Amino acid sequence: MAKAALQLLLLLCVAAVAWAADDGGGSGAGMTKIKVYWHDVVAGPNPTAIRVAQAASTNASSTYFGAVVAIDDPLTSSPAAAAAGEVVGRAQGTYTFADQRVIGLLMDMNFVFTAGDHNGSSLAIMGRNEVMSPVREMSIVGGSGKFRMARGYAEARTVDSGFKSGETIVEYTLFVKA
Ligand SMILES: *[C@@H]1O[C@H](CO)[C@@H](O)[C@H](O)[C@H]1NC(C)=O
Ligand SMILES: *[C@@H]1O[C@H](CO)[C@@H](O)[C@H](O)[C@H]1NC(C)=O
Repeated sequence: MAKAALQLLLLLCVAAVAWAADDGGGSGAGMTKIKVYWHDVVAGPNPTAIRVAQAASTNASSTYFGAVVAIDDPLTSSPAAAAAGEVVGRAQGTYTFADQRVIGLLMDMNFVFTAGDHNGSSLAIMGRNEVMSPVREMSIVGGSGKFRMARGYAEARTVDSGFKSGETIVEYTLFVKA
């Protein structure tokens, strides 16, 4: 009787430890979890996202299929507007409107850290971003500095669509194995 109770207790302890490890470290051992806020400023005097190409048939009333945007977007540690937040890096690269049915982007960008714990290192992110979905998953395909040979994934959640402000704010949660 006592032995069975002890075994049950042990089992509960193991489950609790496994749960705590998962909660703190993303999904799996050796994962670093990083949260940053991505600011795509398309309007105003200092845009950080500029459309550099589009097809003759690109339709702004539809999915923008064929348009390409170059970005040098600030990454901050809080969801406030970029001007008010602490900048920890830049998201540099392009996104392409790559879907004819919905607004679906191909993201191709480096997260270049310029302050904080990861200053001097970068992560390369590539993946599909269907912007109207609540959560979008993208791949982390590599990195530099402390993130050399990194693998992982990113989850993107829109904080502010930017329809009014001209600044789209997206929370990126990165799960990195380096
Ligand atoms: C652009 O897309 C809108 C909405 O789907 C459609 O009504 C319109 O005909 C399209 N324009 C062209 C030139 O295809
Ligand atoms: C980030 O690293 C660079 C290069 O080592 C250094 O010059 C800079 O002061 C650092 N910035 C912060 C905010 O720590």
